[in-house]
Amino acid sequence: MNKLPSLSMIYDHIRPEERMLIDLAKRKGIKLKLHKTDDFFLDATLTSTKEDFQDVVLQRSISYFCSIHLTALLENRGIEVINSSKIALLCGNKLMTTLILSRENVPVPKTFIAFNVKSALDALLEIGYPAIIKPVIGSWGRLVAPLKDPESARAILEDRENMFPLYQIYYIQEMVKRPPRDIRSFVIGDKVVAAIYRYSSKDDWRTNTARGGQVENCKVTSEIENVSLRATQPFGDGIFGVDMMESSNDILVSEINYTTEFRNSVPATGVNIPDLILDYALRRLKN
Ligand SMILES: Nc1ncnc2c1ncn2[C@@H]1O[C@H](COP(=O)(O)OP(=O)(O)O)[C@@H](O)[C@H]1O
Ligand SMILES: [Mg+2]
Repeated sequence: MNKLPSLSMIYDHIRPEERMLIDLAKRKGIKLKLHKTDDFFLDATLTSTKEDFQDVVLQRSISYFCSIHLTALLENRGIEVINSSKIALLCGNKLMTTLILSRENVPVPKTFIAFNVKSALDALLEIGYPAIIKPVIGSWGRLVAPLKDPESARAILEDRENMFPLYQIYYIQEMVKRPPRDIRSFVIGDKVVAAIYRYSSKDDWRTNTARGGQVENCKVTSEIENVSLRATQPFGDGIFGVDMMESSNDILVSEINYTTEFRNSVPATGVNIPDLILDYALRRLKN
């Protein structure tokens, strides 16, 4: 009798995405072993044990810090993790992503980095108001703030002086003149499987669905396909959510998500993203 194909999935909360993956794995006859990050500890000095993990692990932990540390440890034991620690490290940090995309000539918004309030204000004079400040590590639009004029910029920057040092890496970006929407494409391996428009709600300028952004299907044009693949290939084989903005000339890539949410995108696009994720993980199992 053939053994059921087996995968592991690491999670810290079961969101609708993890629920879909669990239910679908059951329907597809895949044994999906679940590992909740709160529930175990691991020997960091072991290099060749799989312990109770399967050969391929879907890493769905929400926490950036938990994700990179745990993934690196598992990789050190020869376990294949989707996404890799390299992808998580680089895509989880907006500056690292900007550096790589710029090097690859992928269009990105103009972005400056400064390390104190005075030089951040100088950078803002050059980039022009309104601009945007973002934490280099973060998601769901948290602490992504518009800087409308020097007075409010100074106030926001001074607030951040009292936060954890990470928030004093001032990542300052031009405010792209985009329509009230952006584009998120889903890249699985070497394919762009779907894309959505995200429209900002009336209560927030950010388009994040976590902030009430509304989702609509977006046709994967050859331009979107091209930009999405060029933006993700430098990071390696994996699963990505590419955030893009339509400027007057170009499609600009603003960030790449490495544990992307898809609960609203499946009904909007009609594409069974969790099914494609499981198929992709099984392909990685065979390679
Ligand atoms: N440079 C920009 N110009 C205009 N809008 C932006 C810009 N950067 C971000 N936004 C808006 O803010 C949202 C959150 O920014 P993003 O960089 O994706 O951070 P997060 O990781 O928190 O989602 C984006 O989805 C977009 O709607
Ligand atoms: Mg985003």
